[in-house]
Amino acid sequence: MEFKELVKERRSCRSFEKEAVSEGHLDAILDAGIWAPNPLNLQPWEFLIVTEGERKSEIRAVAEEAKQKVLDGEGPGWVSKYDMDFLEGAPMLIVVLYDPGKSGLGPFFGQEQGALQASSACIQNMMLAAADLGYGSLWFTWFEPQRLKDVLNIPENREIAGVIPLGRPSGESKAPPRKDPKVYRDTYGDEGP
Ligand SMILES: Cc1cc2nc3c(=O)[nH]c(=O)nc-3n(C[C@H](O)[C@H](O)[C@H](O)COP(=O)(O)O)c2cc1C
Repeated sequence: MEFKELVKERRSCRSFEKEAVSEGHLDAILDAGIWAPNPLNLQPWEFLIVTEGERKSEIRAVAEEAKQKVLDGEGPGWVSKYDMDFLEGAPMLIVVLYDPGKSGLGPFFGQEQGALQASSACIQNMMLAAADLGYGSLWFTWFEPQRLKDVLNIPENREIAGVIPLGRPSGESKAPPRKDPKVYRDTYGDEGP
């Protein structure tokens, strides 16, 4: 797909067909991920591929707990209608992990998030590659990291950049509109001519 078209074609998908993701396509998606920019080329990411139904249900349970916390905390009312079926319905969930110790030189000068930034770029590459292959995907973060770590046996020295449900989309995903970019010239606050 042409790049400009691909960027707009990738939409957050929250409903999936049952069809499995082929190993070849998974390889291609991961390969796109690992070509993301990253500090000192330390490649801080790791990938945990979840396809077992029981494991997906456990992830959903952790996500439902997070949803309940939002509701208990009087978060936005629409949250009660947010349906997380897709966590069990997607044929595959890719949990993108990173080693926060691989953040490059940033920690010397107050930039601690290099590994997360790199893993985020990795996720975006993966999502674009997935869209190019006709898959839908979502960057999902409604969970308490420690709860998800417990369920998936993730060690203390790894963090979670996101859970990416992946599969053939069922139905159309609407593109939420974008605002015009807010741009300043030379110093912040000056919007130029
Ligand atoms: C860091 C990050 C976390 C997100 N977490 C969630 C999430 O937990 N659940 C969800 O449904 N969407 C999540 N999203 C998706 C956004 O809601 C979505 O990207 C946004 O509404 C724009 O829609 P689009 O991706 O179709 O362009 C997340 C996106 C990002 C970048």
